[in-house]
Amino acid sequence: MALECFVNVKGFCRKEKKCFPKKSVCFSTRWFWLVCSHGKSSSLRRRVLVTGAAGFIGFHVAKSLGQQGDLVVGIDNFNNYYDTNLKRLRAQVLLHQFGIALYELDITDQRSLEKLNQDYQFTHVLHLAAQAGVQYSLVNPRSYTSSNVEGFVSLLEALKNSCQSLQLDLPVVVYASSSSVYGKNKKVPFCEQDPVTSPASLYAVTKISNELLAQVYHQLYGFKLTGLRYFTVYGAWGRPDMSYFLFAEAIHEQRELFLYQTEEPVHLPIHSGIVKEPCRDFTHIKDIVKGTIAALDKGYDLEVFNLGNCYPQRISYMVECLETLLGKKALVQYRPLPMGDVPCTYADINKAQKFLGFEPQVDMKEGLKDFCEWFLRWKELKAADLLSMSL
Ligand SMILES: NC(=O)c1ccc[n+]([C@@H]2O[C@H](COP(=O)([O-])OP(=O)(O)OC[C@H]3O[C@@H](n4cnc5c(N)ncnc54)[C@H](O)[C@@H]3O)[C@@H](O)[C@H]2O)c1
Repeated sequence: MALECFVNVKGFCRKEKKCFPKKSVCFSTRWFWLVCSHGKSSSLRRRVLVTGAAGFIGFHVAKSLGQQGDLVVGIDNFNNYYDTNLKRLRAQVLLHQFGIALYELDITDQRSLEKLNQDYQFTHVLHLAAQAGVQYSLVNPRSYTSSNVEGFVSLLEALKNSCQSLQLDLPVVVYASSSSVYGKNKKVPFCEQDPVTSPASLYAVTKISNELLAQVYHQLYGFKLTGLRYFTVYGAWGRPDMSYFLFAEAIHEQRELFLYQTEEPVHLPIHSGIVKEPCRDFTHIKDIVKGTIAALDKGYDLEVFNLGNCYPQRISYMVECLETLLGKKALVQYRPLPMGDVPCTYADINKAQKFLGFEPQVDMKEGLKDFCEWFLRWKELKAADLLSMSL
């Protein structure tokens, strides 16, 4: 029963795999299909391209945009940085439950992006496709420069060229930056005006580059570009490489997990305490979706906003919550904080409150409950080996 609510996996058939066409697809056909299937004239609706739509944040935002009546088209390269079954399943849900088509396409493929924009004539672009994660940048640095820097330039060039050739207005662009841009800054909470000149990882460098590229494309070509500095986003359908997911798996399977300790004490102003472990401003996906859609709606000329919970928590507190929710004790080992990681993230959200009406509402206990309910169903699905049958 739980599996049925999760997604009707057995209902997926081979024929439906065609819904994830390769690059050679005729986009115009899809355009026609989407206009007809939504029963509304395209001119009445926003046409939104979501890059990285098979990813965690992209999946949730695409779903909400579709539910509110926007015509949404997703792209993703389905790379194997983490379990591709999860990405494929998100894409299946977007298509079957929300009528959102997703193309298998790499954002460094500028020609295909140009063709896509010529066919759909997007009014808005939500650019989330990127190589995420801090630690992996020590292992595979080029995946970051390629997807995050080259990919962003390809996307902007494709939009510029295709709009120029068809004499279209440029779409509003909202792109993902990250709290990582604040790097080793000591002053908390992190504020948009703070300098971002001491990155701690290559990932952070690519996100700072995105913000600089946005400035240049705004000045040269008049793009409207808003960067969102997301702070440790978590929730159902989340990313298996992130700490909350790895900890949940370790607790569920009764394996050891590693908690990091900092050399220097970390001050937690909100809790008036000093700890010797990293703290993160964990932000629930429901709040992130609202903030992201508000940024698309506003379409500011050139801005960056922090989207965080404004309430940093000890990582060990998150483990305690997971223990309660999963009904098992964690087997904890302690290790020093690895290179590239920062001791604390903490968002000042005054600007996002004022300009986006952003008000985070989900606290950690409630947010992790939502995650754990999904996580247990996901584990059940994997254990029953139903994924290989359906994808
Ligand atoms: N989740 C967080 O806590 C967090 C925090 C800060 C910033 N961000 C940023 O938000 C965005 C979305 O993050 P997420 O958590 O959903 O990550 P995710 O990895 O789940 O989603 C990113 C998606 O982009 C796709 N992708 C990567 N490179 C691509 C390429 N070259 N062409 C096409 N598709 C490509 C991936 O396959 C993936 O599905 C990313 O830009 C990430 O850096 C996320």
